[in-house]
Amino acid sequence: MRALRLFIALGAVLALTAAILVACDEKGDSSVTAAEFGKTPEGEDVSIFTLRNANGMEARIINYGAALVSLTAPDREGNFDDVVLGYDSLAQYLVNKPYFGAIVGRYANRIAQGRFALDGVSYQLAQNNGENHLHGGLKGLTHALWDAAAEVRAEGPALVLTYVSPAGEDNYPGSLSVTVVYLLTNGNELSIDYSATTDSATIVNLTHHSYFNLAGAGSGSILMHELEIRANSFTPVDGGLIPTGEVRPVAGTPMDFRRLSMIAGGISSKEEQMVLGGGYDHNWILDKKESEYALAATLYEGRTGRLMEVYTTEPGIQFYSGNFLDGSEIGKGGVPYRHRYGLCLETQHFPDSPNKANFPSTVLRPGERFQSRTVYRFSVR
Ligand code: GLA
Repeated sequence: MRALRLFIALGAVLALTAAILVACDEKGDSSVTAAEFGKTPEGEDVSIFTLRNANGMEARIINYGAALVSLTAPDREGNFDDVVLGYDSLAQYLVNKPYFGAIVGRYANRIAQGRFALDGVSYQLAQNNGENHLHGGLKGLTHALWDAAAEVRAEGPALVLTYVSPAGEDNYPGSLSVTVVYLLTNGNELSIDYSATTDSATIVNLTHHSYFNLAGAGSGSILMHELEIRANSFTPVDGGLIPTGEVRPVAGTPMDFRRLSMIAGGISSKEEQMVLGGGYDHNWILDKKESEYALAATLYEGRTGRLMEVYTTEPGIQFYSGNFLDGSEIGKGGVPYRHRYGLCLETQHFPDSPNKANFPSTVLRPGERFQSRTVYRFSVR
């Protein structure tokens, strides 16, 4: 029998205060429920969707910023913990300076001085990170209100989020239609599918900005996590975290994560790149063909046994060790998130690609479709 699929217009969900079931499979093992999360300053309703898979894993997602608010995963003993940083209130997501759990774009990561040229036309984007452009600019997809539709697929519960960024929004050319599908599979994977089309030439680079802590959100720093990144080289940066254009081997540097290594090991190195990043905040060039789907990284936390593998079709990954967290962000349950309480593994095209002829292209033209997939797979060891 085919899984029961229920689509629901967002408007119908918004009228209700309590969580309501919007989609479930025949046996009721996997489901999507929805509840109100708050109102934007413009008076628009924001919903929170809970995806529950057949093993009891839950992902909670809001349609503001398409942000993942929480994600539970079992430890070695089968105990569930929330493994991503986030907030309790919409008011905090309206600011969300660290981009907790959000979808970022139109151009994730940095563009030097917010400037690029395309087909002979120059564009000036917001300089919202020192003199550089970061994560889409002043609004970005992080502050967009997405349309949401819940469904339960054979693989597990899913949330389909769509947003049309009008031409000129954040100064990007082209009207960009974006679809992001979060799917929580019954194989304990959070799969994120991205697609986008445009009506005139533009640039696009989309990623997901969760801060992971496999020992549990708010439980401490990520320094004792072990990490492996399938990359022989990385892109060194300048003081503004813009790649210099060089492709440098990781061998003999603190960037060498070719074997599972404790993050604490290299993070306090006085090596120039580590000082510039204030810790890890760099792009690794994955050892695979540009758009091939392959294992990119593995994160392991020994006390709980939780293991997370990251698979992607993207050519690069930004490992950011939460260097800017300083305790001023108050997370879920009123817990302050201190220095390095979470880490990001942002699958992406390389930073500043529009200004780097030797990096894979991020140009999207009418008639083409941007397509990308990243999967975070959870297990224990
Ligand atoms: C990205 C960047 C970091 C930082 C965070 C947000 O991961 O690479 O430098 O800006 O986003 O705080």
